[in-house]
Amino acid sequence: MQKEVEYENLKNECLKESEEPIVFGEGRLDAKIVLIGEAPGAKEIEMRKPFVGQAGKNLDEFLEIVEISRDDIYITNVVKIRPYRINKKTGRKINRAPNKREIDKYSKYLFKELEIIKPKLIVTLGNVPLKTLLNDFDAKISNLHGQVYNISNRIIFPLYHPAAVIYNRSLRGTYLEDLNRLKKYIKEKGIIK
Ligand code: URA
Repeated sequence: MQKEVEYENLKNECLKESEEPIVFGEGRLDAKIVLIGEAPGAKEIEMRKPFVGQAGKNLDEFLEIVEISRDDIYITNVVKIRPYRINKKTGRKINRAPNKREIDKYSKYLFKELEIIKPKLIVTLGNVPLKTLLNDFDAKISNLHGQVYNISNRIIFPLYHPAAVIYNRSLRGTYLEDLNRLKKYIKEKGIIK
């Protein structure tokens, strides 16, 4: 089956299986690099695109440092719906971390996205995609960031989530070092020419 058809079928299957609006991945199906975040937030759901709004701004800064363009890559999330809870006082939705049930349900789509795209490099952003790809819920980004791993024939480069670096300024130096290491790896391996 043609990649595009397989991909559209996958997206439709995910849409049918979800009671909530979804944000699927976005980008080239022949991308050499796939970036994986945690889950969409309010803005992403509104625009039906991953990493827009503030998260998108953080990601754009990241891409600029690594010298890659959004047009060259594929961006997605482990969970395709927005995990939220309701603030009792205001009645408004607040983001929360995805739970194990949501991760299990949606990671099956993530693995199929990766099978279709077959990237040379997967960059995970934060703990959720790292734990999911390693299939190890004890894995921690603080121990594993900034290195290349070959796990089940997938080349993975774990990074802190760009938003975590905004909340925790002390991570900034480490994060920039990791980004430069990633940039060097991409250049040395000729992943994006
Ligand atoms: N954070 C994520 O991990 N993914 C998004 O799409 C937006 C914010």
